[in-house]
This record gives sequence, structure tokens and C-alpha cells, in this order.
Amino acid sequence: MAMPKSIREEKNDDAESRSQPSYAPVKDSSSINLLRVVSVLIIFVVGIVIGLVSSSHINRYFTAEQFYSNKAAIFNDGNGKFFINTRKREDCLSMKRFISPKYLSHSMSDEELFWRASLVPKKDEFPFDRVPKVAFMFLTRGPLPLLPLWERFFQGQDENKFSIYVHALPGFQLNVTNSSVFYRRQIPSRHVEWGTASLVDAERRLLANALLDFSNERFVLLSESCIPVYNFPTVYKYLTGSMHSFVESYDDLTRYGRGRYNRRMQPHIKLGDWRKGSQWFELNRYLAATVVADTKYYTIFKKYCWPSCYPDEHYLPTFLHMFYGSMNANRTVTYVDWSVIAPHPGTFRAVNVTEGFIESIRNNATACSYNIERMTDVCYLFARKFTPDALEPLLSLSSKLMHY
Ligand SMILES: *[C@@H]1O[C@H](CO)[C@@H](O)[C@H](O)[C@H]1NC(C)=O
Ligand SMILES: *[C@@H]1O[C@H](CO)[C@@H](O)[C@H](O)[C@H]1NC(C)=O
Ligand SMILES: *[C@@H]1O[C@H](CO)[C@@H](O)[C@H](O)[C@H]1NC(C)=O
Ligand SMILES: *[C@@H]1O[C@H](CO)[C@@H](O)[C@H](O)[C@H]1NC(C)=O
Ligand SMILES: *[C@@H]1O[C@H](CO)[C@@H](O)[C@H](O)[C@H]1NC(C)=O
Repeated sequence: MAMPKSIREEKNDDAESRSQPSYAPVKDSSSINLLRVVSVLIIFVVGIVIGLVSSSHINRYFTAEQFYSNKAAIFNDGNGKFFINTRKREDCLSMKRFISPKYLSHSMSDEELFWRASLVPKKDEFPFDRVPKVAFMFLTRGPLPLLPLWERFFQGQDENKFSIYVHALPGFQLNVTNSSVFYRRQIPSRHVEWGTASLVDAERRLLANALLDFSNERFVLLSESCIPVYNFPTVYKYLTGSMHSFVESYDDLTRYGRGRYNRRMQPHIKLGDWRKGSQWFELNRYLAATVVADTKYYTIFKKYCWPSCYPDEHYLPTFLHMFYGSMNANRTVTYVDWSVIAPHPGTFRAVNVTEGFIESIRNNATACSYNIERMTDVCYLFARKFTPDALEPLLSLSSKLMHY
């Protein structure tokens, strides 16, 4: 209460004569300059005080936030310096987790996942020792009845050379012990209806999840009824050494091929572009990222490739033929028996699993071209479809015939 009065007194009596800091208007120009300096100083100090007070609020806010989210926060250490506080010394931009996520579960939508998976480094060199991996992608409804055979296939192999992904129907939980290579290898899945585009959605979802691991170089699609007919070192060398991807792609003039073409796909996809091929593909990393990144052609297939069209038999063969034909071997590495014309391929039961049969898949006396200039007797690395009761005879033949 006394302050305003004394200020007023000072203003009236002493200001002009003493030329001291004053709140009164002064005519003298040096006093005006001083006044300006002082008021700037006052504003500056007030600013600092406001800044400190509010940053201590931010400080408290971030501390609470960090408690729940365990994220790093920016702190004021009290001397006006800012630094990054990592409470648990966690490397939040961890290179290790970026190039190879530890867990496969995530809450990304397909749109978010496909976008992330389509990111391709501009740099050719990797800042780490990159051992190319083969991603084994299992598309299954439920259990993997031939899992013991696959366990044997992977037994003792270098874990830096392969990774496993399982897309099962939502709600299904693969029941394996924590010592299995299939432990925690299920990816977030969605419902799949065979013969519809949701099947290709699932294939692309497998590709996208596998692309998140930057070491994955080859991506092979498998099912619960597939078996490997060669051992891991042979499969690994064959795939990583190939300059082509293995997607069957051919022009089928019958109603099962061109007959499924829809003219409304014009002008983007012409009848002459239309190709057919086995669903069981193998792609290199470049093509895998390209397929995940494609929206234009996939949307056309989703819209016009139904009913009785089967996008899983036409989308990849057509898309690769149109733009990446020279990168494709145009054949599949998964043997399927289509010798009898039927909606489903031949199924092999326990009685069908004989030495001669397995040998005929491994070496069918037909030669396949490999890296253009070479021919090889090895055309198939995998085979289907095998029923669960074929497991026992397969296990008893595996080490002698298939060397695993
Ligand atoms: C998982 O497998 C174990 C051992 O094979 C078995 O005891 C258990 O009941 C299974 N759990 C489920 C949910 O199937
Ligand atoms: C695997 O499971 C067993 C028992 O279920 C447990 O004792 C062991 O610690 C687990 N190992 C790992 C690496 O989690
Ligand atoms: C596969 O087919 C494409 C045409 O779609 C062709 O350009 C390419 O040379 C073929 N690949 C091989 C290895 O013959
Ligand atoms: C499996 O073996 C049975 C009995 O010999 C035979 O009838 C059937 O055609 C075989 N299946 C295939 C796909 O070869
Ligand atoms: C090659 O595979 C076909 C189809 O399974 C079979 O009929 C034929 O006998 C096989 N040829 C050889 C030489 O094994």
C-alpha cells in the first residue's frame, strides 16, 4: 500500500533533479535511453522467471509421462541447460531393434505396416555385418502338423541365416515350447477366405512383417502341408545364390487362365499381360518391397478379380510379368501335383511317401535353368500337399533321402 505512494512522491519530487531510475516521463534524452535499457532488462528477467516456472511444470509433466511410457524426455538441469534424460539408459533409437525387431507382435494397421515395410535404404552399404537370411513364411489356418519335420530341417542351422513367420487364423495360438524355432513367430493376422483377395492380403502381410527385418533377403511362401525336400544348406545356397526370383508365370489360353481376365481391368492391365501361376512364390527383397508398395495394380485385382478368378494365382504372375519379367525365373520351387485336373492338387498320404516318390521330386530327370547360363537337376526345394499322417514316413526317410 505504501509503494504506490512513494513512487508517486518520487515521481513528483525527485525524478528530474536526481536523474535516477524513474517511472515518470523524463525529457532528458540520456535518461530516455537508460529507461529503455532498464525496461528491456525487466522484460528479460520476467521472461526468464516465466520460462523457469513453466519449464519446471514441463519437467514434472514429462516425469509423470516417462513413468508410464518409459520414454526419454528433455529436462532442464536447473542451470538452464537442456539434456536428454534416459532414466534406464535405454537406447530409444536402437539400431539393433530397428534392423531386426525382437518381437513380431505389433499394433500397426495393414496400411501402417505396408508403408513401413516399403521403406528401402538409399545407401547400398549396410553399417553392420549383414548375413542374408531366408524368410520362411507359413500361411496356415491352424496347427502345423508337419512341424517336427521342419524342426529337424532347421536343427543345428545358423540362426543368422533364416527367420520364420506364421500367419494363422486370428485367435489361433501355435503351441510350441520356448526352445522351438517357431516359438513366438506368429504375426498379427486377419481372417482369410481361400480363393479371395484376403488370401493375397495375408501373403502381403507376411511379406511386410518379414521385410521389417533388414537381413531378410529371400522370402518363400509355405503352407502347413509343405515339406522341404532338400536340407537347409542346399536350400539356402540355392535361393541366396539365385539372380532370379521364383514366381511361376505363364500365359494360359484356356478358361482357367485368360478366361478369368476381366475387361474392366483395361487399360491398366491388358489381356496380353494376363498371367497365371502357382500361389507358392519365392521373392527377393527388392521384389518383396515392390509388391508390398504396390497399390495401383493390387486395387484393380481386388476390384475386378472375382468371382472365380483367384487373385492368388494371377496377381503376382501378372504384376511381375508386366514390370519385372527379367528378374523372374517364371517357375516355382514348390512341387505340386496337378496331374489330375481338379479344383485341388494331388494330396499325398502316408502310403504315397516312398523313397522313389521323394527321389522323383528331388530329381525329376528334367533340367531347370538356374542363373540363365546354368542348368540344374534341382527344380524343387519344397513339395506339397502332405497330410498329417505322412509325417511318420517322412521322418523315417528324411535323413537318408533328404539329408536332414
Ligand atoms: C500345448 O502342448 C503341451 C505339450 O505338448 C500340452 O501339454 C498342452 O496341453 C498344449 N496346450 C494347448 C493349449 O493346446
Ligand atoms: C523355457 O521354459 C522353461 C519351462 O517352461 C523355463 O524354465 C525356461 O527358463 C524357459 N527358457 C527361456 C529361454 O525362456
Ligand atoms: C521370364 O519371363 C519374362 C517375361 O515375362 C522374360 O522376360 C524373362 O526372360 C523370363 N525369365 C527367364 C529366366 O527366362
Ligand atoms: C497315393 O497312393 C494311393 C494308393 O496307392 C493312390 O491311389 C493315390 O493316387 C496316390 N496319390 C497320389 C497323389 O499320387
Ligand atoms: C517326374 O514327376 C512326375 C509327376 O510327379 C512323375 O509322373 C514322373 O514319373 C517323374 N519323373 C521321374 C523321372 O522321376
